[in-house]
Parts: sequence; C-alpha cells; structure tokens
Amino acid sequence: MILQDFLLPGLRHVMKQSAQLLLLALLVWMLLLFAVFFYFTDSQVTQLHRTTSIFNSESQHSTHVQRSSRAIMASHNAPWAMFAERRGPFQRKQVFQPPRAVEEFQFRNFGKRRKEYRKNVMKPPETEFSKTWSVVRGLWKGQVSSKLLGQRLQQAMKNYVLSNKYKVLYKGQRKANNDRQEILCQIKEQAQLRTLNSSEQPFAHLGFQPLVPPQLQQAYRTCAVVTSAGAILKSSLGREIDSHDAVLRFNAAPSKGYEKDVGSKTTIRIINSQILANPQHRFNSSLIYKNITLVAWDPAPYTIDLHKWYQNPDYDLFNPYITQRKNFPEQPFYILHPSFIWKLWDIVQSNTLEDIQPNPPSSGFIGIVLMMNLCEEVDVYEYIPSMRKTDLCHYHEKYYDAACTFGAYHPLLYEKLLVKRMSTAFEQDLKKKGKVTLPGFSKINCPL
Ligand SMILES: *[C@@H]1O[C@H](CO)[C@@H](O)[C@H](O)[C@H]1NC(C)=O
Ligand SMILES: *[C@@H]1O[C@H](CO)[C@@H](O)[C@H](O)[C@H]1NC(C)=O
Ligand SMILES: *[C@@H]1O[C@H](CO)[C@@H](O)[C@H](O)[C@H]1NC(C)=O
Repeated sequence: MILQDFLLPGLRHVMKQSAQLLLLALLVWMLLLFAVFFYFTDSQVTQLHRTTSIFNSESQHSTHVQRSSRAIMASHNAPWAMFAERRGPFQRKQVFQPPRAVEEFQFRNFGKRRKEYRKNVMKPPETEFSKTWSVVRGLWKGQVSSKLLGQRLQQAMKNYVLSNKYKVLYKGQRKANNDRQEILCQIKEQAQLRTLNSSEQPFAHLGFQPLVPPQLQQAYRTCAVVTSAGAILKSSLGREIDSHDAVLRFNAAPSKGYEKDVGSKTTIRIINSQILANPQHRFNSSLIYKNITLVAWDPAPYTIDLHKWYQNPDYDLFNPYITQRKNFPEQPFYILHPSFIWKLWDIVQSNTLEDIQPNPPSSGFIGIVLMMNLCEEVDVYEYIPSMRKTDLCHYHEKYYDAACTFGAYHPLLYEKLLVKRMSTAFEQDLKKKGKVTLPGFSKINCPL
C-alpha cells in the first residue's frame, strides 16, 4: 500500500512528461511532413508554370496560332513531333512547343490536382513511374487494360469520353478476341488508303481537280515507320532504319543531328494541320518538308461533313496546301480523307471492349496503316516501347509526360495493343529495338 502510494504520483509525473514529449514529437513530425509536402507541390507547380510559360512565349511570336479553346482541344498531333528546327549560321536551336494533348490535360486538371494534394497531405500522388512498366509489359504480351494506367491518365480518358468533341457515335460491334489474321483482314478490307480528291463537294467546286496529284500508290518492298518517341535515343537504329526502301517520319521530327539513332532517309512525312498552319514550323521554307512525299491530315467531325470541315478545320490546312501545290506542283502532297482517319478509329474501337477516347487516332497509327497500304513489309520503331521506355515525349525535345506514350487525347494505348496483336515480332526485337513487323496489305491473304 505504502509502496503504491509512493510510486503512483511518481509514475503519474513520468507519464505526464512522456505525454508532453510525445505531443512535441508529433508536432515536429507534422511540421516536417508539411515542409516535405509543400516542397513537393511547389515543384509540381513550378513544373507546370514552366510548361505554360514556354508555351506562352512561343505563342507571343506567332501571329497565327489561335489559342482559343478550339486550339487547346486540337491536340491531334501529340504525341508526335511538335517542333520546328531553327538553324542560324552558328547555332542550331530547337523551338519547343508542348504537345497539345498533354498540355490541355494539364490545364484542365491543374486546379483539381492541387486540391487533391492538399486533401491527401499524407499521401503523395501516385507515382506513375512504377506503374508504367506494368503497362509496357502488358503491351509486350499483347494484353493490357487502361486500369493499369495511373489515375491521372485514366481520368483524362474519361474526360475525353464525356466531352466527345467530334460527336463520335459508334454503332459497330466490339470484340476483343479476334486473332491476328482476322484483325489483318479487317484492316485490309476497311482501311484502304483514301486521300482527298476533287470528286466530292466542296472540293470539286473549289477547283481541286488540277490541284491534287494522282492517287498515292507507290509500291515499296520494305518500309520503316520511325516514331518520334524519346525512347529511340541511344538506340543506334539509324543504319537499320535507312536500309529500308522507304522511311516514314512524323511532323517536324528532325533527322539531322540524330542520324545514329533515327537514320537520315525520309521518303514520306505525315504532317498534321498545325504544321501547316503555324508559321513557327516554317512549313513553306524548312528543308525537312522538301523533296519528299507529304501527307497532311486534320480531324473532321465523325460524320465526315466535308463542308463543315472545310469551313472549320481544327487548323487551316487548306490554304497552305493550295499555296504549296501551286508553288511546287512536282512535289507529291496529299490530304488524307477524314473517312480514312475515322475508319481507323472504328477499327481500334471494334477490337476493344472498353470505350476508347472518341478522338482521332494518333499520327503514329495513321502512319502505320498508311505504310501497310504501300509496302510489302512494315517495320515500326518505338511505337510499342522498348526497354528504353522513357517519359521523354519526343527524341528531339525536353518534355516529359507519360501521356505521350500511353495516350490522353489519342486512344494510343488501344492502338498500340492492336498493332502488337497484328505484328510478328521477336520478343528480343520488341524489348531491345522497340520494333514490330507488320505485313503490307499486298501480303495479307484473306478468305473472300
Ligand atoms: C476520288 O476518290 C474516290 C474514293 O477513293 C474514288 O472512287 C474516285 O475515283 C476518285 N476520283 C478521282 C477523280 O480521282
Ligand atoms: C511562308 O509563309 C509565311 C506565312 O505563314 C509568309 O509570310 C512567307 O512569306 C512565306 N514564305 C515563302 C517563302 O513563301
Ligand atoms: C531529291 O531526292 C532525289 C531522290 O530521292 C535526289 O536524287 C535529289 O538530289 C534530291 N534533291 C534535293 C534538292 O535534295
């Protein structure tokens, strides 16, 4: 009893002291956490600001670029090159413009993301990095779902499905279990190349007849499709790429200075309408657009209303096209028919159970199918990422976002999965070179 009476107050005292200590420690710990948290969000914010300010300083110099909401939505070019290559006598400077899709996506989610960080003080945002490898492995295996993507990209996809800018109304079937041969036959049957000609209004009235060159129908044996993915850096694929009979490149992607990795030969270049419309790409003077076949495109509404499209393209490609055709009538230069673009979208959706983004397919996918029309065999580089996979969007600029590889605006993930399912690729080629091989239409035999 006595002992207890003696001990208890002491014990109480000790306990009170340790409680105070514990409280103090907790306080210090929380302060530390806050510091770390603010440091983290601050760097996120700085990063976003940097993106916007580069973007803004670019647009100050351009008189033509429409930064309206329409322009912001018009991200059909990403994730492909968005670059102009400027060369002075003593310097070579690359002018950077962030890929629109990515950018729009950041703008839209900026406020929300910050709030999310604040709310979940203890939980830093999900690191996409570790997750992306499971997506890549899924692509290598030919089995992947958007559920594997980070929250941010999943949300972007949902937003695009909800906004449905091009009023896509898909009525076809959806099957995810067609085998390689079935997919190849479907694409051969449905995705015959179609370029704009003068047989339809308003182009007949507009006098396109003498303007458009005869239907593009070169036949090549081997072709290379060189994507602009950052992962092609340090690949040393240049020589292999150049050994093909024809090489397709995208938008403003340069080969000068990158020959070792991307090669130097260009036969065809696919350009989106921003390349034509935005003077900073110097379409009418830059050498990268000279002496090659050009194929331009711009997304029309899903209903393919050519009148509407002509009056209101995402970016004005028609006037620069007409000028270029008049100045260089010898240069083969085509505009893809919007029905070709949306047919490719239909094919991707028809082989996917999930709702894919109702936006045009990427230039990459368009280019691959274009070459399947023209070549006996098509090797595609770094479309499906190799082990070099990086968040670096394009090999020729310093801009990082996983959306460039897995898609936000474009249904990239599903396109890539479909290409994988159509391809014959040795696992080693896929992992080491990011290379898949597809047969050209002329080599696909289908039951009648
Ligand atoms: C225009 O394209 C359509 C569809 O590809 C084709 O049927 C037609 O013959 C072409 N017309 C001309 C004048 O080339
Ligand atoms: C190229 O186009 C711009 C407008 O985008 C024009 O100002 C310039 O004169 C053109 N240059 C040539 C060589 O046609
Ligand atoms: C254009 O290409 C052809 C063959 O591809 C080549 O012989 C010719 O020298 C090139 N011309 C220029 C101006 O680069």
